[in-house]
Amino acid sequence: MSPEAARAQADPIVVQFRKPRPEDGAAMWRLVREMGGLELNSAYFYVLFATDFADTGVVAETEDGQLAGFVVGHRPPTRAEAVFVWQVGVAPWMRRQGLARSLLDELLARQPAEVSWLEASVTPDNTASTRLFRALARDRGVECRESEYMSAELFPRSHAAENLFRIGPLEPRIQTS
Ligand SMILES: CC(C)(COP(=O)(O)OP(=O)(O)OC[C@H]1O[C@@H](n2cnc3c(N)ncnc32)[C@H](O)[C@@H]1OP(=O)(O)O)[C@@H](O)C(=O)NCCC(=O)NCCS
Repeated sequence: MSPEAARAQADPIVVQFRKPRPEDGAAMWRLVREMGGLELNSAYFYVLFATDFADTGVVAETEDGQLAGFVVGHRPPTRAEAVFVWQVGVAPWMRRQGLARSLLDELLARQPAEVSWLEASVTPDNTASTRLFRALARDRGVECRESEYMSAELFPRSHAAENLFRIGPLEPRIQTS
């Protein structure tokens, strides 16, 4: 076992989940920039999501205020029954400890009763992301429907196709703060 893994096992990092605040936008942007793997959008975009779409976002913060991970999404205007995960990211030092799963669980717990589907778009080469969403469906005993969504030709610059994952129907959850 590596020293890092041994330390993590002996002294697990505690995180708290909360709704994003406008001040989190810059930290999300920095995390995405530093960790790679996710498309980096403008800082404005993250601040906007943390401000106007905070009800469909969750941040995970360590006791000393570090951003360990986040999920940001929206409710598609034409699909009131769905919450769409736009980006989910976990800091490299927190990966493979169930944080992304917990972020999705928190996100769902915070949605109104009519939300019974979780959606996300995933590039076929993103194994971690594919596994994450399939694991969510598996553990909740529901389907993960995967279909073509955005073809590569739609993008002005080189960009992989995005497949749509639809997970549900999910049980309504009790809303938390
Ligand atoms: C994808 C990502 C969010 C996963 O975060 P994480 O906290 O490490 O994931 P979890 O520990 O909650 O694991 C959830 C499931 O995914 C699996 N998984 C996670 N990372 C994996 C990897 N690199 N390879 C294979 N499976 C992986 C876990 O085994 C688990 O499945 P299981 O219940 O069947 O064991 C993280 O790797 C990341 O931030 N990647 C870069 C950004 C990205 O690609 N985001 C997704 C696109 S929006």
